Amino acid sequence: MSTDRFAHKAGSYEQNKSRVDNVANIADCVLGAIEFDRTMHVMDFGSGTGLLLEKIAPRVGKITAVDISKSMNRQLDAKRNRLGCALDILEIDLEESSVPIRVDGIVSSMTMHHVRDIGAMFAKFRSMVRAGGFIAIADLDSEDGTFHAEDTGVFHHGFDRETFAKAATDAGFSVSRLISASVVHKPQGNYSVFLLTAIRLGAK
Ligand SMILES: C[S@@+](CC[C@H](N)C(=O)[O-])C[C@H]1O[C@@H](n2cnc3c(N)ncnc32)[C@H](O)[C@@H]1O
Repeated sequence: MSTDRFAHKAGSYEQNKSRVDNVANIADCVLGAIEFDRTMHVMDFGSGTGLLLEKIAPRVGKITAVDISKSMNRQLDAKRNRLGCALDILEIDLEESSVPIRVDGIVSSMTMHHVRDIGAMFAKFRSMVRAGGFIAIADLDSEDGTFHAEDTGVFHHGFDRETFAKAATDAGFSVSRLISASVVHKPQGNYSVFLLTAIRLGAK
């Protein structure tokens, strides 16, 4: 994704109630699954306008938000002073770049279907999470291709949960939970969303 595929929707992104409700449901599940504390440094991959990270921010010390979209990052930056934790925003394509940080965990909401090679992305996550740290990744279950009305750089029409979990396992994570987190209601249908949580294996 070299162009800003979210430029035309970033300003109105949070005016879509079903989108906001979906991420609120995901955040509730993440907060129920992970014990956050104020010493933690967490990365949000594909942070967008910050709908997920703003719920986690009061519970951690620092969040590194990673998003390729300048327009989405601008929306997030406007929230900086009310988040309640330190915030770094990295405007990069995480498929193409590496970030030399080591975090306690990674969260992500509705972004993995924009990633061409999810195995490579899980391997990248493993290199960025400390041993014993976590990932909490939410995305669409397999859908019929009608979820997106426009091309925002979609490589997957959702995921088969077991295939998704295997990609995480193959990259060196031990899956803790794979649960239903939400349903997105659109005029053309209802789309279920899962949350995978897993622990990073290995000593270093
Ligand atoms: C559907 S939005 C989800 C935003 C937010 N997580 C939420 O749930 O509201 C996907 C986001 O992932 C970002 N994104 C997609 N592929 C990316 C990549 N390879 N590197 C960094 N950001 C990416 C997009 O720019 C977009 O902001």
